[in-house]
Amino acid sequence: MKALVYGGPGKRTWGSVPDPSIVEPTDAIVRIDSSTICGTDLHILKGDVPEVVPGTVLGHEAVGTIVEVGAAVTTVRPGDRVLISCITSCGRCRFCKEGRYGLCTGGGGWILGHLIDGVQAEYARVPFADTSVYKVPDGLTDEHVLFLADILPTAYEVGVLAGRVEPGDTVAIVGAGPIGLATIMTAKLHSPGRIVAIDLDSSRLDKALEFGADVAIDNASGDAVAKVADLTEGLGADVAIEAVGVPETFELCAELIRPGGRLANVGVHGHPATLHLEKLWIRDVLITTGLVDTTTTPKLMRLIESGRLDPTVFATHRFALADSEDAYEVFGAAAESHALKVVLSAESVGQDVAERHEVPVTA
Ligand SMILES: NC(=O)c1ccc[n+]([C@@H]2O[C@H](COP(=O)([O-])OP(=O)(O)OC[C@H]3O[C@@H](n4cnc5c(N)ncnc54)[C@H](O)[C@@H]3O)[C@@H](O)[C@H]2O)c1
Ligand SMILES: [Zn+2]
Ligand SMILES: [Zn+2]
Repeated sequence: MKALVYGGPGKRTWGSVPDPSIVEPTDAIVRIDSSTICGTDLHILKGDVPEVVPGTVLGHEAVGTIVEVGAAVTTVRPGDRVLISCITSCGRCRFCKEGRYGLCTGGGGWILGHLIDGVQAEYARVPFADTSVYKVPDGLTDEHVLFLADILPTAYEVGVLAGRVEPGDTVAIVGAGPIGLATIMTAKLHSPGRIVAIDLDSSRLDKALEFGADVAIDNASGDAVAKVADLTEGLGADVAIEAVGVPETFELCAELIRPGGRLANVGVHGHPATLHLEKLWIRDVLITTGLVDTTTTPKLMRLIESGRLDPTVFATHRFALADSEDAYEVFGAAAESHALKVVLSAESVGQDVAERHEVPVTA
């Protein structure tokens, strides 16, 4: 088969690799129908994630059709359309039993496109299929559910739920990339009083307003703290959500929250940030961190099914899987291309989705 293979820092190739096969009885083999690229894939390509070894197939977000299952798999069968999530769950370890799949110690967690071959490929082996894939309801297209593989549960769990967004709250979201925008989208489920988006890029701030932010602040102006204070009678935001991953934005969030407020860090940090405990200790603030668990994926899927969430707006560019090298160029140059998420499709771009799922599969 063909797949997008990591060749070491700065190197990636769409090329031939061996077909995946069942290794454990809990595995499934999935034909990839749609996949997408994540900012984390760009981090891997920069060499920031050294545990990814050259030769690994990249990608941890996809929708596909099961073509084969191991002997122990009972809840999905060949022909089923499934969402493949960024997080795999063994279902048996202490953390999986607590619903904390991101911390799985039984061989799951974030493994696809990281510790084992990923899903930017024609086929993929998905371990622990019973507890790690989600059947796609009839009537939903790949693009309806694809972004449930990572950005939506990440934004909702690590941002909105960890930050305990409540009705009426002023929520400041720093960073309006795919994660920040997904945070705006899912924060609205909790009826905040006001959503303030803070970014440096004017096109991202325009997007934030389109996604439902009430106020957009250009962080280059340097007065985000004063502007949020003005909006909140001098108190600060009830919740600040960090969706960038650099020290300055974490430190900004700590300044944006009111006494008794909550700071939810979503960004992945490569450098230490300063925690001003000398100012914070007396302010009763809550600071949370986290990797997504994806426990809310079924709930978010139901909201998409009922039409209350529409993540299709994240799909700004479409490519055939075979052209994924071009897709990386466009996604990697988001400042110029204005890409949010690029969809990599198994069929030639533009083909009717319903047709694609009538392809026969082996039983
Ligand atoms: N915790 C998790 O489980 C998890 C999962 C997925 C992604 N992430 C992380 O979430 C973060 C956001 O992801 P993304 O894909 O949206 O990234 P992105 O790079 O597409 O977006 C980041 C945004 O931050 C803005 N920005 C940069 N510097 C800024 C500053 N000083 N002030 C204000 N805005 C600034 C950029 O203009 C951009 O719009 C990343 O660090 C990513 O690795 C975390
Ligand atoms: Zn991702
Ligand atoms: Zn586990």
